Amino acid sequence: MTTSQARRESGERGGTVLVTGGAGFIGVATSPLLAHSFDRVVAVDSMHPQIHPSAVRPAGLDERVELVVGDVTSPQVWDGVLSDCHPDVVIHLAAETGTGQSLTEATRHAAANVVGTTQMMDAFLRNDAKPRRVVLTSSRAVYGEGAWSRGADGATFYPGQRTNELLERSQWDFPDAAPCAMSAETTHPAPVSVYGATKLAQENILTAWAQSVGVEPVVLRLQNVYGPGQSLINPYTGIMSLFCRLARAGRSIPLYEDGQVRRDFVLIDDVARAVHAAAIAAKPGVGPIDIGSGEHQTIATAAELIAAFYGAPAPHVTGQFRQGDVRHAWADVEHARAALGWVPEFSLADGVKRLATWIEDQPGVEI
Ligand SMILES: NC(=O)c1ccc[n+]([C@@H]2O[C@H](COP(=O)([O-])OP(=O)(O)OC[C@H]3O[C@@H](n4cnc5c(N)ncnc54)[C@H](O)[C@@H]3O)[C@@H](O)[C@H]2O)c1
Repeated sequence: MTTSQARRESGERGGTVLVTGGAGFIGVATSPLLAHSFDRVVAVDSMHPQIHPSAVRPAGLDERVELVVGDVTSPQVWDGVLSDCHPDVVIHLAAETGTGQSLTEATRHAAANVVGTTQMMDAFLRNDAKPRRVVLTSSRAVYGEGAWSRGADGATFYPGQRTNELLERSQWDFPDAAPCAMSAETTHPAPVSVYGATKLAQENILTAWAQSVGVEPVVLRLQNVYGPGQSLINPYTGIMSLFCRLARAGRSIPLYEDGQVRRDFVLIDDVARAVHAAAIAAKPGVGPIDIGSGEHQTIATAAELIAAFYGAPAPHVTGQFRQGDVRHAWADVEHARAALGWVPEFSLADGVKRLATWIEDQPGVEI
């Protein structure tokens, strides 16, 4: 029996998987799992200079992955790729991902995230190369501030974007209210950043198209992904790697707002397993799936863990804030367990150790 026959008999997939943005953080981490489950893995990646300054193939990308350098907004790139491969499954990772940056470079974010998705869909039909399934990695950014509850009966409300005026007065939380976990089944999307709005547009466009043409859409809404392999040079992403680099240099980590911002830091190993599961699951069902760590921490707690790991001075609160940042975000991962048979495995403490250990092996790490 061949390896691919054995895989199929054990419920896994053969065939071809095409991964856009496959040379990025999540693409590289997922590549060995995909290469194990599929006969052929093709990655299309523009090698964006903000992520790949030297434009060389990432060392961690599984050697079985065929990397095509090309931009997903280009119809010619798509026609070239699809003349050579008709994917069974597509994992759409390619995106501009800077939340803060998206406010000043909205067109660039919309072009890659929205037009990149529509060009991909048009190309599948134009080339008669419709995949069976498209997995999209969306983001918790689609929820914005999410739902909060208030009063003795815990009535849910949507506070919307925190205004500059409130933030300048250091009014960080919504008074007399408590944030709720983010769950696609109960929380309405209400993005407060251009990035979040483009991710929601991606979701809606892909889902409408896929259901109309008979393709299975699987949307994962990822919380904050961190861990080995994350960019140590992209200044627009990766708060955990920045915290590690500051603490490693013996500096006190600065904390925005009052340090009590809550985030759900999910380790890349867990996310790679979730993306892989979304690609091969028998029936993931319709509707977005939240992916998080199963726990949530304040930024202060995460920074203290990192400072303690490096023996750095205690973090300090700056009171600064960034437009487009939300106050609290964490996922309810129950749906992921039911839909994908996936559960997160790593605690923040374990993940920080893995990230910090990996950083030690990287050449020329600077703040
Ligand atoms: N990392 C996170 O914390 C996180 C959280 C939520 C959602 N996501 C989503 O997951 C996906 C992957 O994120 P990541 O962390 O791996 O990001 P990344 O920046 O490391 O990787 C993205 C890859 O896409 C490529 N790319 C960018 N624009 C492209 C284009 N126009 N054409 C072709 N390739 C292009 C880049 O070169 C890069 O290799 C994105 O869609 C992102 O929105 C990530």
